[in-house]
Amino acid sequence: MSDSLKNFPEPQKGEDLYRYLLERVTTLEDRNTEIREQLRQLEADKRYLETQKVRYEREVRKLKSEIEQMKSPPLVIGTVTDVIDASRVVIRSSAGPRFLVGLSQNVDIEQIKPGARCTLNQQSLAIVEILPSNFDAQVYGMEVVDAPTERYDDIGGLERQVLEIQESVELPLKKPELFKRIGIEPPKGVLLYGPPGTGKTLLAKAVAHETEAHFLRVVGSELVQKYIGEGARLVRELFELAKKKSPSIIFIDEIDAIGASRTESNTSGDREVHRTLMQLLAEMDGFGNRGDVRIIGATNRIDILDKALLRPGRFDRIIEIPLPDVEGRLSILKIHTGGMHLDPSIDLREIAQKTEGRNGADLRAITMEAGMFAIRSDHETVTRDDLLKAIEKFSGELERGTFSGAAGAMFA
Ligand SMILES: Nc1ncnc2c1ncn2[C@@H]1O[C@H](COP(=O)(O)OP(=O)(O)OP(=O)(O)O)[C@@H](O)[C@H]1O
Ligand SMILES: [Mg+2]
Repeated sequence: MSDSLKNFPEPQKGEDLYRYLLERVTTLEDRNTEIREQLRQLEADKRYLETQKVRYEREVRKLKSEIEQMKSPPLVIGTVTDVIDASRVVIRSSAGPRFLVGLSQNVDIEQIKPGARCTLNQQSLAIVEILPSNFDAQVYGMEVVDAPTERYDDIGGLERQVLEIQESVELPLKKPELFKRIGIEPPKGVLLYGPPGTGKTLLAKAVAHETEAHFLRVVGSELVQKYIGEGARLVRELFELAKKKSPSIIFIDEIDAIGASRTESNTSGDREVHRTLMQLLAEMDGFGNRGDVRIIGATNRIDILDKALLRPGRFDRIIEIPLPDVEGRLSILKIHTGGMHLDPSIDLREIAQKTEGRNGADLRAITMEAGMFAIRSDHETVTRDDLLKAIEKFSGELERGTFSGAAGAMFA
């Protein structure tokens, strides 16, 4: 201020004084507006910095909690087996042994019921939280979400079997009233059996494609687990999920992995497989007949399956999927050559006659091999010669015993 005063000469007379004061007032007013403007700017800056600060603080908190989480040890998964009182619960940890444990204050005792899955603190094994779902992720993985592309039309020579499957699997799901009217219970399950490569899995894939029901698919060996009772639990959860999502179809491929005849076995692994099988038998008995869960099993070793699985009431219908006959082979060949450029002179019936004893998978491989021969010799189309060469190639391998023989020995 004192600086700005010096710029002005000292007032002498009244008029000078007046002008002097006027100028002073204008200068001061200008200065005032300037300072106000600065203040406004500074306040805006301050607000901006404050929001910035809040944001950074939030970020710090988030990162801190993430560090916390990273530092905390993993939780053990267990299953509640018994509730003794409000503060003591018996649990079985996933590793096997059972413990009497307490629970965290955040856990609602109401939710703790035998069978509930929960997470446990690693050291005290106190229950930290109850897991929302009873299903293992593995069981969810069994649900077929993206239907396979195979249709009934892609199956050759199995018209009777397709019809039988449609009748016993699809019809009860689509038109339960038909069965009610006649007063019979629809079959619960069908078992497909036959030599390898004859289209059992293919048939199930087609059912999954054509049906509107939920389709759950499991391979028998997936049900064989490391720890006692885990396989049985998987089976139970599989059926529970199927019931929850009904109408549904459960397809158990290669069922001999768990369905093999129960013998006097001594290894604990065998006993665990048997427990899993027993759970499967119990589940198959468990649901109501007109319930909306159907089962399809597939195996190529029906001879070693447990008799209990085969009795009516479990797998009511046992459908043989045999090696294709001439007509069957012809229609399989037609399906697999459908997209190929074949020489018009080819008579597929002749090829079918020359492939006695071959299964669907062989025929598919033969057509593919013929295509490869055509590519190799730079033909535009697949010729009769290519097909004959492909048959020749595969028969050679069969005779040398590259493919056969091993299966029987393995199970002996
Ligand atoms: N009847 C058939 N019609 C058309 N293709 C077939 C037929 N049978 C088999 N195939 C062909 O062979 C392939 C293998 O068949 P699939 O997987 O169904 O055999 P599988 O009977 O389940 O054998 P495994 O007992 O060894 O499991 C199919 O993907 C299909 O391409
Ligand atoms: Mg199969």
